[in-house]
Amino acid sequence: MKSGRISKVVFPVAGLGTRFLPASKVIAKEMLPIVNKPLIQYAVEEAVAAGADTLIFVINRNKRQIADHFDAAFELEHQLEKSGKHELLAAAQSVLPKGVQTVFVTQRQALGLGHAILCAESVVGKETFGIILPDDFIYHPAQGALSQLVDAHAQWEASIVAVEDVPRAKTASYGIVSADHPEQACSLIRAIVEKPKPELAPSTLGVTGRYVLDSRIFELLRHVKAGAGGEIQLTDGIAALLQEQPVRAFRFAGRRFDCGTKLGFVQATVRLALDDPDFGSEFKASLQQLIE
Ligand code: UTP
Repeated sequence: MKSGRISKVVFPVAGLGTRFLPASKVIAKEMLPIVNKPLIQYAVEEAVAAGADTLIFVINRNKRQIADHFDAAFELEHQLEKSGKHELLAAAQSVLPKGVQTVFVTQRQALGLGHAILCAESVVGKETFGIILPDDFIYHPAQGALSQLVDAHAQWEASIVAVEDVPRAKTASYGIVSADHPEQACSLIRAIVEKPKPELAPSTLGVTGRYVLDSRIFELLRHVKAGAGGEIQLTDGIAALLQEQPVRAFRFAGRRFDCGTKLGFVQATVRLALDDPDFGSEFKASLQQLIE
């Protein structure tokens, strides 16, 4: 595997988002805002900060708003320019930096995360690439999680999977790895299993939504059969990959919020609102009042 820069990042966003119904019935859950930015925007900023210049979105027909979000909005921009609202104009225009391109591919049926990644194969080609699951929101003001994974990939010359400790009672919501030295920051993975019951989980090291993977994963995913939940699981593709080459579990720095759940989404909103330079201190005071 060649180390160094990762130019392509895949955003699999073709899931049904059932845990966020009814909000996700019409609005893509990735378009829900944490304060004033949609989740997908944070994910894109993280990818660009990690060096990506080609952003590949795996979508379905309910997720077309994501393409609209990253498109230019001529009327709006013209109006803001005419009325001298330069800060707002900059906010509208900064959704995608210059030199970064977006590619949209369709997953016609929600057959699982592994299948969604396979849909990006023709765009990714033979390059090592990144994956961000936008609803796994990782907050780190200094260095984004994917950028940390890219550094780990360069250091270890291996595919990298982001992990963190999860409560044993919750292993059935995660891919779980067993690693050589689980206490270390970046350890060789021995085995990986999707959604094991707490009593069967080989550890409590849970996979979170960031990956840097060798393109060999595509060929392996092609042979993966439906697994946990009847879906074609990325975890099963990674299980096959680590039979052939090293794959490492990386403990990222930062706080993860599972924004696919109501609790995680509200926690992320509160966290970012508290840190907001414009109204953070005012918000803190009102939050304290609310709690009292
Ligand atoms: P989730 O397990 O969070 O599923 O998928 P979901 O559909 O988004 O949400 P729930 O569970 O119904 O509430 C993890 C990631 O994989 C993508 C999702 O969009 C999400 O980013 N995914 C999942 C696909 O792109 N395609 C699929 O077939 C399944």
